[in-house]
This record gives sequence, structure tokens and C-alpha cells, in this order.
Amino acid sequence: MRFLALLSLTLCISSATAFGQRQAASPMAPPMGWNSWNHFAGHVTDGDVRAAADMLVSTGMRDAGYVYVNIDDTWQGKRDAKGILHPNARFPDMKALGDYIHSKGLKFGIYSSPGPRTCAGYEGSLGHEGEDAKLYASWGVDFLKYDLCSFQDAMLKAAKEHPENPGIKKEMMIAAYRKMGDALKAAGRPIVYSLCEYGLDQPWIWGPEVGAQMWRTTDDIDDSYGRMIAIGFSQAGLSKYAGHGHWNDPDMLEVGNGKMTEDEYKTHMSLWVLLAAPLLAGNDLSKMREADKDILTNRDAIAIDQDALGKQGERLHQSGDLDVWTKPLSNGRVAVGLFNRSWSTRDVSVDLAEIGFRDGAKVHDVWKHKDLGRRTGIVTDTLPKHGATLLIVSR
Ligand code: GAL
Repeated sequence: MRFLALLSLTLCISSATAFGQRQAASPMAPPMGWNSWNHFAGHVTDGDVRAAADMLVSTGMRDAGYVYVNIDDTWQGKRDAKGILHPNARFPDMKALGDYIHSKGLKFGIYSSPGPRTCAGYEGSLGHEGEDAKLYASWGVDFLKYDLCSFQDAMLKAAKEHPENPGIKKEMMIAAYRKMGDALKAAGRPIVYSLCEYGLDQPWIWGPEVGAQMWRTTDDIDDSYGRMIAIGFSQAGLSKYAGHGHWNDPDMLEVGNGKMTEDEYKTHMSLWVLLAAPLLAGNDLSKMREADKDILTNRDAIAIDQDALGKQGERLHQSGDLDVWTKPLSNGRVAVGLFNRSWSTRDVSVDLAEIGFRDGAKVHDVWKHKDLGRRTGIVTDTLPKHGATLLIVSR
């Protein structure tokens, strides 16, 4: 890195957050935790979820802010004659599982669909919203991901039957999401409400009014650099819809799932924190490599995501495969992401004057854990293929 040449190699303890002690994340900040889907998909068991809870504690992830333990699709069994849903054999006792998660200082998340079936074909909540919300509350659930899935069939059918109403699909979808939002409120337990309709109908516009704290802005991520950057860089323009207690969700993290390089996972985490995205790790925590843990628990990266100002970042410049993104932070600071999407090593620069620091600024390199001292004008870094640099700039 060129601009490091004159700098001392002293490792600096960052001032961004006090680490080593539990971060008291604001309930209004982007939710952080772990979700079973990206690694365990349809095979997840009670044992996997308990192990994830244990690992969140022993790896320090809980203390870094990852508190939600979310079971995604495939926990559901059948409804009984009274319409009460029971978990399947892989989840013998949901209340006990919730108690276990809570006993570790963590929160319990669950998943359903407004349709008759979930995406994996399990029982959805259609017609049972009130009962399900009460059931979740009785289990001590703190988070619900509500995934559109088979409700789309009903929407398509209605659109065919009512060609005179081109807005019918969207109206039905909003009504379905509102129904569960109201049911959760009536259930009398604070439950984070996470919408998953793949960004099809601008949920960032109507999400808050149906009671949601976050909404997916895209179709599914997978553990590939191509898919991850296609999602991450397509988020430009959405920042005005994010703020305290209501966040755009570009989908869960793939860091640690093994199919991207360390530079690519740093790009993933850099982009997600600049986007003030909910940070839901999706890896097998029992097999987490040190390098992946370092990415997921980087205190300054997390502090950028969780910053008290509550602003989502935006693209500042794009030139071919090179990108510069910025996120305003509290106390007049700015986070800057420099990205190289090309297949070769490239220089990427930011002009400090352009981002409000005409008289220069202090620059901190988040991934290198290094203060770069006081800088003026253009700051350049040399990035490897698919690499990212994350900076915190302050007066
Ligand atoms: C998809 C959703 C994924 C995961 C999956 C479960 O629709 O986007 O995040 O929840 O369903 O079946």
C-alpha cells in the first residue's frame, strides 16, 4: 500500500467501540445475529441451533453484537385439529429451545410464510396468522422472517381473475404482510418483523407501515463472489429508505461458507456494513476459521454498520470495475469503501476534499487495524483482485 510507506507499523487500538465487553446494540440499529439457512438449509436441527448459540458465545460473536439466533425454513410440522402448528421431529421442544437461547444472553428468531406453504414446502401461516403470532410469543420468539413463497400463487391467480386491477398483486401482498404485522403487535411481545419478498415491489416504501423493521431488497444471495457483488452494488439509491428501526436487507452473510477468498469476504463485509445491512452470519460456527472470525467480528466494521447516526451508505464513484462508497457516521466521521472488482491489482482513490474534509482528516484502515495518520487530498490504496479497503475518516 503506497500511502502506508511513511507510516509507523504500530498497531492501534481503535477508538470506534469499546470491545471485549458486550456491545449494547441499540434496538433501533440493524439487527445482528446468525441464521441457519445459508449453511444448514433444510437439514437444520435443534442440536445445530443450540450449537450455534454456544458458538456465538464462545467465539465472542455475541459480545461483538451477533445476538439473534434465527431458525429459517423447515422447522415446521403439522397443524392439529385446533389449528395449532407443531414443530417437526427435528425440533422436539421450541419453548425449551427458546429458553436455552435466552439463557445464553441471545435472542430467538423463527421463520414463516404468508402463503399456505413455505419456500421449502413446509406449513405456512395463511389463515392462522393470529394463532401463529401467539404461538411464537409463547415460545419467547424475538424475530420473525416472513417469506412470500407460495403466497405468490394466490397473487398470480387474482391477477388473472382481475385484469381490470393491475395493482391487485401488490395490494394482496401488502395486506398479507400487514396481517402478520398486526398479529405480532397483538401477541404482546416485541418481535422484530423481517419481510422477505425479494425486493419485488419496493418493500422499502411500504415496509414501515406494515410494522416491519427490515425487508429484503433482492432475491437470494449465494456463496459466490459474482452473486454477492451483484446484490451489494445494486443497492445504490436505496439509502433514503433506511434509518433507525427500518433497514434495507440485501440478504444474509456468506462469510465463512468457504467458496469465496478472504479478499472477497472482506469485500462482502465492507459492502454490507456500508449499507447498514442487518448482519446475519450464515456459516457453520463450529468450523469457523480464524480469518472468517476476524472478518465477522472486526469491531470497527461492526461499528460502521451499527453507527448511531443510522444512515445507509451510497456509491460515490464508479469507474469500470472500481468503486468508491461512503457512509456518513456520527460525530462528523465518514466511512469509505474502496473496491476493486477486476481480476488484477488496481489503485483505487478517494478525494478527502470531495467527502467534506477540505483541510485534511485522520484516516483509519479498518481491515489493517491501523491509523494512517493525518492525510489531505487524494488517498489511494492498491487493492488486489476482488479486494476492498474500508476506512474511517474523521477530523
Ligand atoms: C427463500 C429465502 C431464503 C430462505 C429460503 C428458505 O425464499 O429468500 O432466504 O429463507 O427461502 O426456503
